[in-house]
Amino acid sequence: EEKKMAFQKGFLWGGAIAANQAEGAYLADGKGLTTVDLLPTGQKRWDIMMGNLSSYEPLEGEFYPSHEAIDFYNRYKEDIALFAEMGFKALRLSISWARIFPNGDDAEPNEAGLKFYDNLFDELLKYGIEPVVTIAHFDVPVNLVKNYGSWRSRKLVGFFEKYATTLFNRYKDKVKYWMTFNEINMLLHLPFVGAGLVFEEGEDKKQVKYQAAHHQLVASALAVKACHEISPDAKIGCMLAAGQTYPYSCNPDDVLDAMEKDRDSFFFIDIQSRGKYPGYAKKFIKDHNITIEMEATDEEILQNNTVDYIGFSYYASRTTSTDPEINKTTSGNVFGSIENPFLEKSEWGWTIDPKGFRITANQLYDRYQKPLFVVENGLGAIDIPEEDGAVTDDHRIDYLNKHLQELSQAIDEGVEVLGYTSWGPIDLVSASTGEMKKRYGYIYVDKDNEGNGSLERSRKKSFDWYKEVISTNGENL
Ligand code: BG6
Repeated sequence: EEKKMAFQKGFLWGGAIAANQAEGAYLADGKGLTTVDLLPTGQKRWDIMMGNLSSYEPLEGEFYPSHEAIDFYNRYKEDIALFAEMGFKALRLSISWARIFPNGDDAEPNEAGLKFYDNLFDELLKYGIEPVVTIAHFDVPVNLVKNYGSWRSRKLVGFFEKYATTLFNRYKDKVKYWMTFNEINMLLHLPFVGAGLVFEEGEDKKQVKYQAAHHQLVASALAVKACHEISPDAKIGCMLAAGQTYPYSCNPDDVLDAMEKDRDSFFFIDIQSRGKYPGYAKKFIKDHNITIEMEATDEEILQNNTVDYIGFSYYASRTTSTDPEINKTTSGNVFGSIENPFLEKSEWGWTIDPKGFRITANQLYDRYQKPLFVVENGLGAIDIPEEDGAVTDDHRIDYLNKHLQELSQAIDEGVEVLGYTSWGPIDLVSASTGEMKKRYGYIYVDKDNEGNGSLERSRKKSFDWYKEVISTNGENL
């Protein structure tokens, strides 16, 4: 029997990174401080990520992993050459807002910042690698947080629109794939990470989060509008931290609970892709006494400027139960989930569920009927180099191989997928923990959690595996 080719010709194979987790050079060439530059490692990181910030300056005696990260800012040529060697067709990366507008509210953009990304895109295009660009990946210029309250302020909509428009005008000949906000639903879970929110004592957090969400959704729609006008041949998408929620049992209470948990996330994409607040969201807002201040044209803006594709990350599925006993088990660190007895977990407690990837892809495609783009997937794991420096990361190969098999099944089932960029093709700083030892890469970076190491790059076993996957277009998975 002839083997069916699931991945179409031109499928965008590659990897995904984010400015703040890779670039370092946190004050180089006029860049301003961003929210992530205030996140140290350890428990303090969690407190700040939840919205409890005490200082708008980095503190003495704390270690801030974003400040140097993996020094991609100075080493991008070497790294891109390695991506090209693996045969990458695409690299997803983000632009650091504060490199372009160091204070967020500057009258003019910072030319040195713009130039850096020009050089970066040119380097990618030299190898035929398509840049896939996230406009905001977990960073807000600190000045906007300090002086405006970040996304709680309507002003941010205008600042973001100006920032996005600057990017479309400047890079319209180089960039054909854009995304507005990385994992926009993260705002509800890690409000400082997702939206730069810092809470005041006693304030209604839900109120603040949903108002900020509204501002991001309007800003996202305005960016879509500007992109379509300035760069009509480009595609612009949203980006969801996905992963279906399973009911622990067939008790309808559990099933309903799972549906509602998924809606916390779909809320964002329903608006970005279908163009309006869904009924369940209106009810939720009313039931929680949330008042969303809207301007007269907001509904029209949302309605007329929906996204071209659905970008999403998938690491794990989630499980939920309404039984208090079962609820005592937990799994993962960002999304609330209980343990799924059928599945294994990573060293960081994230459920490993390849079939859930297929289920999630189908679920998203059924709901939105727009092309999907898998812009993150991968296994965060500890890699210990052998004497000779070799890293035999069979656990990673196994994870990725199984996930890609399921993705190919989803494609066979009719799901349209533009591409697949695995997370962290080169080891980088973990977003949730700030660690270096939570590694995702095909390329090892010599650096530890405390910032020691030569920053030297080397190929892991998975490097050759992924190279083969790309060169055969996934035929031998
Ligand atoms: C997603 C983010 O949440 O997952 C990335 O978009 C992040 O920025 C990735 O790095 C993996 O999470 P972590 O915490 O392992 O880095």
